[in-house]
Amino acid sequence: MIISGILTSFGVLIKMTDFLQDIHNCNVVELPKIHNRSGNLTFVQNGLHLPFEVKRVYYLYDVPGGSERGGHAHKTLHQLIVAASGAFDVILDDGVTKKIVQLNRPYYGLLLIPGIWRELMNFSSGAVCLVLASEKYNPDDYIRDYSVFKKFKNL
Ligand code: TYD
Repeated sequence: MIISGILTSFGVLIKMTDFLQDIHNCNVVELPKIHNRSGNLTFVQNGLHLPFEVKRVYYLYDVPGGSERGGHAHKTLHQLIVAASGAFDVILDDGVTKKIVQLNRPYYGLLLIPGIWRELMNFSSGAVCLVLASEKYNPDDYIRDYSVFKKFKNL
């Protein structure tokens, strides 16, 4: 079965990225875009576009200019972050290396693996940050202290 083959590959990918928790494994993926004169449409489907099954969706909106979000890492959570509207920057930090990813199109998504410290900033007016997550909300999965994060990374 093609689907189960894909899911098996995704499972292997998740296991591999759990070991290689560095920012080089956080990539921007292009999502399908259905053009239409009366508006475009993008979709994300389990088993097709993500290396995890989506268990939760949340979105940030009405972010005041100059505000920053994030400022934490996750122990096990995989996420896809999309600028569903507007633009913002995501600063990724694996404890050794940092990179900035600007998201500004609703058909691009940033895949975030566990063990990455992230900060979201420079939100444009009206920006909407859509997040698809691999697990239900669990406060115990958060690392909110940078020194604890460094210990988690054995640094
Ligand atoms: P948090 O993840 O800290 O937001 P950010 O990283 O954008 O600053 O979440 C903010 C608050 O919302 C916190 O009190 C937990 C709550 N929350 C939920 O109850 N469920 C969820 O799925 C999420 C993402 C947050």
